[in-house]
Amino acid sequence: MAFPQTRLRRLRRTPVLRDIVRETDVRARQLMLPLFVEAAIDGHRPIEALPGVSRHGIESAVAEAAEAQELGLGGVVLFGIPSEKDEQGSEAWDDEGVVQLATRAIKAAHPDVIVVTDVCLCEYTSHGHCGLLRDDGSVDNDRSLDLLARTAVSHARAGADLVAPSDMMDGRVGHIRGELDSEGFSDIPIMAYSAKHASGFYDPFREAAGSTPSFGDRRAYQMDPANGDEAVREALLDVEEGADIIMVKPALSALDLIYRVKQETRMPVAAYQVSGEYAMIKTSSMDDRRLALETLTAIRRAGADIVITYFAKDAARWLGT
Ligand code: PBG
Repeated sequence: MAFPQTRLRRLRRTPVLRDIVRETDVRARQLMLPLFVEAAIDGHRPIEALPGVSRHGIESAVAEAAEAQELGLGGVVLFGIPSEKDEQGSEAWDDEGVVQLATRAIKAAHPDVIVVTDVCLCEYTSHGHCGLLRDDGSVDNDRSLDLLARTAVSHARAGADLVAPSDMMDGRVGHIRGELDSEGFSDIPIMAYSAKHASGFYDPFREAAGSTPSFGDRRAYQMDPANGDEAVREALLDVEEGADIIMVKPALSALDLIYRVKQETRMPVAAYQVSGEYAMIKTSSMDDRRLALETLTAIRRAGADIVITYFAKDAARWLGT
């Protein structure tokens, strides 16, 4: 009797047969493109730490969103870079803030583009922390919740399809859900960054958004990368509070958590292939196309339904979808 491997080799060698037995696919629809928007600029400005990625003025962001749609992507995720930062991060919940302006402009020009908005204060606060500070410099979790909820409601009012809180304050999903419901946005889903590690992989993002904390770090409110059970507990808590999509971040250093969170929650799971993961591949001397597709496949194989990635446009082109 021949070894089964003989047939396996044939399956691998013959493109159609290989496709038939392939377990995991990556399609453009499953990918979302992060977009940095900055009202104060015309056109776009390259971000040094992220080769091939730019900060966009409003018009340029609309053009990017149109391209995302033409390429069949699942949507865009907006991150705002305000013109001014202050202690409370007040541009975050300003109806005329940069994310609100960009959301309205994108939805007016291309109503079918799915717009997800990042809900956090760190891009807007002068100190770069994700919540309000007490006099002693520690983050005041409970007082931050109202501001985060106001931000989410303001994004919904501007036309956001999904809001994505990334601040990691405790209880924020429930608080945001309550405010959205009472303001008439009970149909707007929450994509919660549930398992978000305090990670060195966010550095290029912080350079792009100017959101590096001016003192201290985020270890008090972001998770210890050593903890997996805690990630599952956080995800389950967010589900209880009303999260509709659960996010794990970063992706490649947390493939086990993508798997576990999917198994434990049975919710739609998103994974964020963050700035440092992108930069690591993009600036290496290896084949970036091959590495991007290999890592995206691994993230999908781990159980992610949605992948947020700076490779989204490239990947859609490479995949030919
Ligand atoms: C805001 C936020 C961050 C990222 C997404 N939302 C930065 C951080 O937590 O410091 C990182 C995304 C990336 O690195 O691409 N809280």
